[in-house]
Amino acid sequence: MAKYLVQGGLPLAGTARVHGAKNSILPVLAGSLLNGSKEKIRLKEVPLLGDVRAMLSILTRLGAQVDREGADLLLQTGALDCYHVPDVLMREMRSSIFLMGPLLGRLGRVRICYPGGCAIGKRPINLHLEGLQRLGAIIEERDGYIEARGRLRGSEVPLVYPSVGATENLMLAAVCARGETVIQNAACEPEIVDLQNFLNTIGARISGAGSSMIKIRGGTELRGGSYRVFPDRIVAGTFLLAAAVTRGTVTVEESVPEHLAVLTGFLKRAGADVAVNGSAVTVSAAGRLKGLSGVETGPYPGFPTDLQPQLLACLALAEGDSTITERVFNTRFHHLPELRKMGAKIELHGHRAAIRGVEGLNGAVVRATDLRAGAALVLAALAAAGESEILEIKHIERGYDRFPETLAGMGARISREEAVREEASLG
Ligand code: UD1
Repeated sequence: MAKYLVQGGLPLAGTARVHGAKNSILPVLAGSLLNGSKEKIRLKEVPLLGDVRAMLSILTRLGAQVDREGADLLLQTGALDCYHVPDVLMREMRSSIFLMGPLLGRLGRVRICYPGGCAIGKRPINLHLEGLQRLGAIIEERDGYIEARGRLRGSEVPLVYPSVGATENLMLAAVCARGETVIQNAACEPEIVDLQNFLNTIGARISGAGSSMIKIRGGTELRGGSYRVFPDRIVAGTFLLAAAVTRGTVTVEESVPEHLAVLTGFLKRAGADVAVNGSAVTVSAAGRLKGLSGVETGPYPGFPTDLQPQLLACLALAEGDSTITERVFNTRFHHLPELRKMGAKIELHGHRAAIRGVEGLNGAVVRATDLRAGAALVLAALAAAGESEILEIKHIERGYDRFPETLAGMGARISREEAVREEASLG
């Protein structure tokens, strides 16, 4: 099992280039299954994150041909022949749920077991299933499996909550449905816009993504094409928060500043300097941040739940008290016990974390419990005095490509170590 070793206490200074968004690449990869032609899809500059590898394994098992050309991926999905997603791969990550829409649309049938993913709370899929039923799917749930079948037809699909995954799954299914589908109360995240743009590039007719009403005119034959997803706003936000927590200066290049506006607004309120120059965003903090009260996570354009743990790690070192309320997932505070090991003073009241800022944190041995909680521990370790070990980094590597290398390029003392096997050390 690999781990990160961090010698904390150094301000970061430098520039980071952010890779493509994991949460765009995954539904886009699922969407590539909709291309029944012989033409290839080229996805440009795809980082081989843990979750991306897992999705590629699934696509290959379903009959897709996947090739790498430099940093690009080439996908040929004309000869899809399997409607059952292998259980072991399905359990590896929650995003495999996106496969329901395209497989159902393309093959008229799909069978999956309940998906896995980050341990950040109850993650039901009722909105996905109800939406597919509105499109005419017949769904049976038995012995831990979900099987859906039927020819899809366009329909109105109102969502009771703007779920990102359900919106994406329904867009993917609706591309194959006959007639028009209208998703109401759709999620407005940039990743939804990315999926729309990709699907339209390969021949779909979708409009409205980024607003709460998305229209899909289904029934078109999809083809090959070339696409590059948006830069990852959560990775970008993590680097900007790394600047703030280490009292350094970091520029994130080739970002979309608008996607980071709520975060940079909070950072300004907390006393950091923020400068935007075209697609580059710079955050610098000369001293301690000031505490922030009333931070709440929410669907876009609200503050992203995927940056909550990292912001919380920064506020643990701020001057004064802060509060963060988690409104998207019900148990997304597994990082608190680990941050407390480093000296953070945080209490949890239901979904609200009350943070009493401390002057310094100490290095410790801590465990990443999920992807973003793991990133938060790295930020805390970068600011802490002394050495930290971060265990279970497989969670972090699901979503951050070359994370230690990028941080080290900005002056951090961080390395990735493969743990020595016990047998070897005994030998
Ligand atoms: C996606 C992101 C994840 C991010 C989240 C919220 C991907 C691969 N993952 O996850 O990183 O944290 O959006 O921005 O894009 N819900 C239901 N029923 C459903 C579906 C969702 O009750 O059928 C609830 C969930 O339990 C959760 C909330 O809705 O409390 C938000 O979930 P959703 O927006 O669906 O998130 P994901 O698509 O799982």
